[in-house]
Amino acid sequence: MSDHSSLSNSIEARDSNSVIHPLTNLKTHLEKKALVIQEGDGVWVTDVHGNKYIEGMSGLWCVSLGYGQERLVNAATDQMRRLPYYHLTNHKSHQPAIELAEKLLEIAPVPMSKIWFSNSGSEGNDSAVRIVWYYWHAMGKPEKRKIIAHQRAYHGNTIASASLSGMYYNHASFGLPLDGFLHITPPHYYRYSNPRESEEDFATRLANELDQLIRAEGPETVGGFFAEPIMGSGGVIIPPPTYYRKVQDVLKKYDVLLVADEVITAFGRTGNMFGTTTMELNPDMLVCAKGLSSAYIPISALMVNARIFDVIANESDKVGVFGLSFTYSGHPVSAAVAREALSIYEDENIIEHVQLMEPYLIGGLKELLGHPLIGEVRGKGLLAGVELVKNEITGDAFDPSHQIGGYCADRAESHGLIVRAIGDTISFCPPLIINEIEIKELITRFEAALDDTLIMAKQNNLLS
Ligand SMILES: Cc1ncc(COP(=O)(O)O)c(C=O)c1O
Repeated sequence: MSDHSSLSNSIEARDSNSVIHPLTNLKTHLEKKALVIQEGDGVWVTDVHGNKYIEGMSGLWCVSLGYGQERLVNAATDQMRRLPYYHLTNHKSHQPAIELAEKLLEIAPVPMSKIWFSNSGSEGNDSAVRIVWYYWHAMGKPEKRKIIAHQRAYHGNTIASASLSGMYYNHASFGLPLDGFLHITPPHYYRYSNPRESEEDFATRLANELDQLIRAEGPETVGGFFAEPIMGSGGVIIPPPTYYRKVQDVLKKYDVLLVADEVITAFGRTGNMFGTTTMELNPDMLVCAKGLSSAYIPISALMVNARIFDVIANESDKVGVFGLSFTYSGHPVSAAVAREALSIYEDENIIEHVQLMEPYLIGGLKELLGHPLIGEVRGKGLLAGVELVKNEITGDAFDPSHQIGGYCADRAESHGLIVRAIGDTISFCPPLIINEIEIKELITRFEAALDDTLIMAKQNNLLS
């Protein structure tokens, strides 16, 4: 890869001088130049200097159908010509929103009644929090408004969805979370189990923790529980098989609504159309985004079941209107692109393809077990995490200040592979259209990055 950090009028320098970057150390970014991507094709992206990379993360877990999908481009341009904008407020509507809502209700993993549109996963979760509050208010229990989620969960970055998120960096120095947002232990057996505790016992202990928290807070004050079927940004955490059954028993006992955050897991990512199916959830509401339009345009959808819809409809009648609104809810161009994306998932048999490719990605990464840096390989469908440790036998973690994961991701980039470091977990979420040869190439490049990282770790005496 070419070195371009010295070019003072370079596009990288212009970036540093003009753009504030999310989830980036803003100070070091003034020195560390951006990787400026110019174009994409299939699973590949190319930077402004002509270097090609396998996009092992589908951007931010979102370009599920890969780059260069002409059908999505045509859906957008056709709709822009016909009707570039209309809205859904005050009894207005348009065909693209209606068709997309109908299709989502048809493929929903559990019976759902209506669809609420917004523009991002954050807004979808924010809307779901608002609807939990509105619902319990309508039910005559306005105090039932506390919300529980997992530590290390990522649910977005509006004030409510950042409060839901269990990431320290979403809270630190922002004065968050808001009161009434509570977090429980994440269901990650490898990191959070006690010595000699079985997976089953671990799941039971965590469900008991939830039960105790709800009782300590008072069940009459707890309104909702939000969960990603498989936690993405928390490090690709796959709960034990019985975890959600036990959790749902607790929620039922105290009449707490369940919201599935499927912003990453929906539309084939875990080998089923929805992660709700993969992990056997039965949510009252379900949020999806990202893969909904394959990220070609912003859109999210919140599915709402009949239990909730009937109550909020009556309440809106009392209030006068349902007072939640975004100018771009169900934007016709976004809706048309998303509707076309849903057709592509079906026409191209994407789910079957993911099931076929899963052994190459997850199995291929598991073949790397035994490498001195690898503690755990976990994954489902085409979503995987590889946890780097300083001792593969004991699983002891590196001191976070060594930023081993970040180093490994940087090395991968220099080998032409884009992955994401979540602490010391390297995550993989390639476009679902990736083929066997491309997966093998991805793993070869990752192995080279691992070997570079091992050399660095040995040189600095970081292993134990
Ligand atoms: C599980 C989950 N929920 C919500 C969000 C927030 O979505 P957005 O960035 O579109 O607001 C994300 C984003 O990564 C996510 O992974």
